Amino acid sequence: MKDASVNAATPAAFDVERIRDEFPVLNTTMRGKPLVYLDSAVSAQKPRRVIETLRNFYEKEYANIHRGVYELSERATARYEAARETARRFLNAASTREIVFVRGTTEAINLVAATHGRANLEKGDEILISAMEHHSNIVPWQLLCEERGLALRVAPIDDRGELIVEEFEKCLSPRTRIVALVHVSNALGTINPVRELTRQAHRCGAVVLLDGAQAAPHLPIDVRDLDCDFYAFSSHKVFGPTGVGVLYARESLLEALPPYQSGGEMIESVSFEKSTYRDIPERFEAGTPNIAGTIGLGAALDWMTELGHDAIATHEAELLAHATAALEAIPEVRLIGTARHKAGVLSFVLEGVHPHDAGTILDHEGIAVRVGHHCAQPVMERFGVPATIRASLSVYNTREDVDALVAGIAQVLRVFRG
Ligand code: ALA
Repeated sequence: MKDASVNAATPAAFDVERIRDEFPVLNTTMRGKPLVYLDSAVSAQKPRRVIETLRNFYEKEYANIHRGVYELSERATARYEAARETARRFLNAASTREIVFVRGTTEAINLVAATHGRANLEKGDEILISAMEHHSNIVPWQLLCEERGLALRVAPIDDRGELIVEEFEKCLSPRTRIVALVHVSNALGTINPVRELTRQAHRCGAVVLLDGAQAAPHLPIDVRDLDCDFYAFSSHKVFGPTGVGVLYARESLLEALPPYQSGGEMIESVSFEKSTYRDIPERFEAGTPNIAGTIGLGAALDWMTELGHDAIATHEAELLAHATAALEAIPEVRLIGTARHKAGVLSFVLEGVHPHDAGTILDHEGIAVRVGHHCAQPVMERFGVPATIRASLSVYNTREDVDALVAGIAQVLRVFRG
């Protein structure tokens, strides 16, 4: 995995103002102030390319897919399947047969738990996760453990918010059947060494699922290089529409899985005695899918690829360094998550101020951040806080956005501390 923090300086061609111009919402005001959007980890804003792709599809190209004998449906089908090829390229998967469109990362993980988990794990088997997982990479495994009498093991993290690799190794055993890990932590920003962790898990015979929801917007992803078995990410965090996401699954594993949801489109034949199912990946796409959203996702991934992952990573690394230094200079700030390899997430608490109060005052300055437990309550518990303020950076953010946050924090402190 490429380490963004060691990349060369931002290339001259990278023009953040030009990028911002592609995002209409960034030119709006909130509470009478220019919007400072620092909540891209919850959801990224959408470039014109994606918005226009959606409008164009609904205005000129809309039809259901895989069903029509007429040209409009054939065209829509071709657009949908082109998005599958775009997603394959984005992940460097070997084949489009390994790309399943789902509702998002959460559904992808539930799909793997309900199919691979139910079909392959038995009483006494173990599932290993880490202490920095999002709820969506905890609860599906908990439910499976309850149902099947399995054990859920949790690899601990240290005070910086880094996974303790030696402890992770100790948690692996011949009974470990699934290792499910977050690639980049949404609450801490930590970039996990998932290639190495996957190698260790495979040595024990476990399959590996990586939750890439927060990695895909920031880092180049190469599932063949990572050698993971499953990789999940959501469209709305990579500048695409909501309600769609991607599950990559190694072909040999996906072929062996029983259906997840059943209904139209995933069957080959149905009679009252017996139904047979289609080949992968359609077997896992029951019902009319999010056609427009998937085509919009394809447009978003193309947009990112044209921008270039190196350019994105370099810009964000520079911003993260600036923001980290600026927040560390405020005595009342305690950063939660100071891993050596981090993506652009700054979780912090302000001495004497509840995060929700800080969020409200920042909102009055036009600054959008997320406050709360970020769907990662065990992380909050690990650091002894009920919630944090989280500013998350994206390719369209600027140093001025960070400076506005710093000024906003000063305002919060004035209100609460006089
Ligand atoms: N998982 C998303 C976040 O971190 C919703 O905010």
